[in-house]
Amino acid sequence: MSSELKFSSEVQGYTNDLYKKIEGSIPKIEWPTIAPYIYEINKLKKEKGITILAHNYQAPEIFYGVADIVGDSLGLAIDGSKVKTDTILMCGVHFMAETAKIMSPEKKILLPDLSAGCSLAESITAEDVRKLKKKHPGVPVVTYVNTSADVKAETDICCTSANAVKIVESLNVDEVIFLPDEYLAKYVSTKTKVKIISWKGKCEVHEQFTENEITELRERYPNLKVVSHPECPPDVIKASDFTGSTGSMIDYVKKSKDKDIFLVTECSMSDNVQVENPHINFVKPCNLCPHMKKITLQKILNSLKEEKNIIEIDKEIISKARGSIEKMIAVGR
Ligand code: 13P
Ligand code: SF4
Repeated sequence: MSSELKFSSEVQGYTNDLYKKIEGSIPKIEWPTIAPYIYEINKLKKEKGITILAHNYQAPEIFYGVADIVGDSLGLAIDGSKVKTDTILMCGVHFMAETAKIMSPEKKILLPDLSAGCSLAESITAEDVRKLKKKHPGVPVVTYVNTSADVKAETDICCTSANAVKIVESLNVDEVIFLPDEYLAKYVSTKTKVKIISWKGKCEVHEQFTENEITELRERYPNLKVVSHPECPPDVIKASDFTGSTGSMIDYVKKSKDKDIFLVTECSMSDNVQVENPHINFVKPCNLCPHMKKITLQKILNSLKEEKNIIEIDKEIISKARGSIEKMIAVGR
């Protein structure tokens, strides 16, 4: 912690209520180190007129402490396109910051760590998409937002896990190329008659969950509700009570009367949802996303101070990629 960052009485007063809210996930001994960053970030973002967006996988001190807008990938794409400030700081991964840049090319988009990637986005290149289009001429390309701007530029329409089935059906065709998540493609194919041509990408976080884990937990917690993300393997999804995007998982929990819930996804989701649902016991054999966890309060403060780590995308790529996101937003959730 730098010398000007002190746990002063002003910082304590400012962060007191916040700590009470998130104390379940942050040990008391760590708070004097964390709170001064939260105070400084909030002060600086106001002074500079910067909006902070955060994905549901961000740690509670970011999600509740400094973000102005939180949500799933679809929510961030929609809400990010409506932000009024000239600068947006994205607490998420590279493709999310790129999506914000594509939707608002005139804005400065900051990502506190430019190396915060995604195994799905890294699984496919624009050249791979061009080859697939040659192999399947005339078949529309539906691309998960978890891809680079270059890949989106080769795409007819984007989707997220919140609207993948709706997007595929909106095209009124018999067959689509659906990229790059093999498991999401399999999940979509169980919900539609449209033939799905898929790719071999996987989320390194969700692919680790197993059906065995669920079976064992159900033995320990007989009334357990299992709520999974569609990036999980098919047998995990089959063994779940509900499957949906991070936003839909949160909605499910809010409406649920269950005592024991297993959110089959990234660890911070359970921490964040626990804050609003203290009566629920979240069973937690979760997995961390190493990319999401590259975003820290220290890096957010540096990025705000220096306004560095700016997302740059070629203008031609932006104009080619934009249509695919706009079409997705028009279809909605
Ligand atoms: P959603 O928030 O769209 O469900 O995405 C999950 C995810 O893995 C983002 O990287
Ligand atoms: Fe990518 Fe999976 Fe991490 Fe999401 S959780 S950013 S899909 S690696």
